[in-house]
Amino acid sequence: MHLEAQNQDTSARDEKPESEILNKQIPGTSADIDRHDTQSKNSSSPSRTPVDRASPEEADNTLDTDNDSAIGDLGSYATSTYTVGSGLEDNIKENGRTYHVYKDGTNSASEKDIQHKMWLITLENKLHLAPISSTPHNVLDLATGTGIWAIDFADAFPTANVTGTDLSLIQPSYVPPNCRFEIDDVEDEWLFSNKFDYIHGRALATCFNDGASVVRKAYDALEPGGWFELQDFELQKSDDDSMKGTNFEAMEGHISEAMKKLGRTTWGGNVPNYARWFREAGFEGVTETQFRWPSNPHWPTSRKEKLLGAWWQVQIEAGLLESLSTRIYLNVLGWTKEELTVFLAMVRNEENDPNIRAYVPVHIVYGQKPLEQ
Ligand SMILES: C[S@@+](CC[C@H](N)C(=O)[O-])C[C@H]1O[C@@H](n2cnc3c(N)ncnc32)[C@H](O)[C@@H]1O
Repeated sequence: MHLEAQNQDTSARDEKPESEILNKQIPGTSADIDRHDTQSKNSSSPSRTPVDRASPEEADNTLDTDNDSAIGDLGSYATSTYTVGSGLEDNIKENGRTYHVYKDGTNSASEKDIQHKMWLITLENKLHLAPISSTPHNVLDLATGTGIWAIDFADAFPTANVTGTDLSLIQPSYVPPNCRFEIDDVEDEWLFSNKFDYIHGRALATCFNDGASVVRKAYDALEPGGWFELQDFELQKSDDDSMKGTNFEAMEGHISEAMKKLGRTTWGGNVPNYARWFREAGFEGVTETQFRWPSNPHWPTSRKEKLLGAWWQVQIEAGLLESLSTRIYLNVLGWTKEELTVFLAMVRNEENDPNIRAYVPVHIVYGQKPLEQ
């Protein structure tokens, strides 16, 4: 089913070299991020040495600028000309959080827009890794969320008609003329009237019952030579056992237990299967690149990972843990709100602990539909 939210004409535009497009600052990030309280709080862990929380700006100022010079000025953000409005929302309030009402799922704008900043840092201000044309025509963003990627992509690639789909219409009403949003369930039959030359999906690990079939649908919906790219992450882990016995290791066990109860794959558990699913669907040149999002800025050594750690802390302050866990703990696992509040306070402290070297494994997978079929 497609319910159209925004349908505006897209006229042909001047073509720009990709280098010029990628070098300009990406709009659509700062207003969203600045609206949130990113002020750090200082709290102490019962069992480990607490450290002051640094804001990303502070972390960036104290970073070793000898490293990762290619990252440039990622600690400051671009000026936005867009605001996220609420005109299209049709949401419900439950457990003190806002959810959309088309089918079952959750959506909370703030953490996703902060997370967009983390994706930009990760990809060094690019919106994609697939070697797409600098003048794409029809682009689809699956499960677009707040639409922030689709809006930025439409701005950066004026030749593209960008369609973002999602279960909920939380996208802004003021968007570039070459960007539109539709309500659509990615797991339903795809009824698009045109083929795409680039399909993108980000942070979708928990969204689908049958992710492999989504990859096959993307293959069918592409023009020959078109590219499909998934950008996603798994649950946190550590390579040195420093997460062992912590509350946030326990939290991930709880989330996995709840996902099993709901009949879903363990959270993020399918992400390592993406590249295989791409190959099985027929994609060629399948490429996988991995990054890390550290739990805080204290333990990583590179400037880029320190910055990502600082932004991870901002996400936590903005309610990432609550957004991941509230429904799961209260509705699926039957905890009380008070029990969850106490537990999350302990998890928050551990996330900021320099002795726990946890990180979120980030995977970018892309592949091309063959030119000759
Ligand atoms: C974690 S958010 C990612 C949003 C966006 N891709 C981004 O990176 O900013 C996941 C989104 O998937 C949407 N979603 C979940 N299941 C879906 C489905 N079956 N079809 C379409 N959208 C879905 C949710 O409503 C939510 O907006």
